[in-house]
Amino acid sequence: MAANWKMFKTPAETTAFFNDFLPLVNDVTAAEIAICAPFVDLPTAIAATAGSNVTIGGQNLYWAKEGAFTGEISGPMLKAIGCTWVIVGHSERRQYFGETDETVLRRTKAAIEAGLKVIVCVGEVLAEREAGQTEAVLAKQFEGGIAGLTPEEFAQIVIAYEPVWAIGTGKTATPEMAADAHKAIRALAATKFDAASVRILYGGSVKPDNVASLMAQEDIDGALVGGASLDPVSFSKVVKF
Ligand code: PGA
Repeated sequence: MAANWKMFKTPAETTAFFNDFLPLVNDVTAAEIAICAPFVDLPTAIAATAGSNVTIGGQNLYWAKEGAFTGEISGPMLKAIGCTWVIVGHSERRQYFGETDETVLRRTKAAIEAGLKVIVCVGEVLAEREAGQTEAVLAKQFEGGIAGLTPEEFAQIVIAYEPVWAIGTGKTATPEMAADAHKAIRALAATKFDAASVRILYGGSVKPDNVASLMAQEDIDGALVGGASLDPVSFSKVVKF
């Protein structure tokens, strides 16, 4: 169960979140819990969760190890401060910051080389869904962004299916729609890799009151949660659905 805080929370707000959140989830053993925070909050989040059952990740990285890339953060930097995870290819990065399937693959490989585990995001926009292109879009994103991994690299990723029209809109895919997409993704993965063990998260307006019906679907292994992860009580309810 992964949180994507996006561009929310200062370090002080991060401390306050974990003061409330950790006691609510310290008995959770059935789920792995990860929080992907803004870069400036990562040291605070990592210190706050030391020795707990919560791991921390970034939301993006650059593929070079270091160099003249003003404003960028590398995989080795995230690893050095104690990150476990990094999100790659979120639809907001694809929409606003020029992320492509090709750069998703480069970032994912770089992150794994640095020793990070990666949440690789895929998903269609509304026009694509309405045109009946969902599976074709997922296939293209898989071919360009994931199929180029080695089997060893593939074992280090989690895939997040996030229909773009369901992100932050309050519109969740129905559990059946999500299940169909997850099944399609696992079938794509099976064309190249050992797909039975890859975890596929659903993301897009996951809340305490809809998480159980989504998680009941066969190929949905977890959730990537934006808005509902900012509040400790609400994210603890998602984690403990
Ligand atoms: P949301 O965001 O839960 O606010 O819809 C999910 C995401 O973008 O990862």
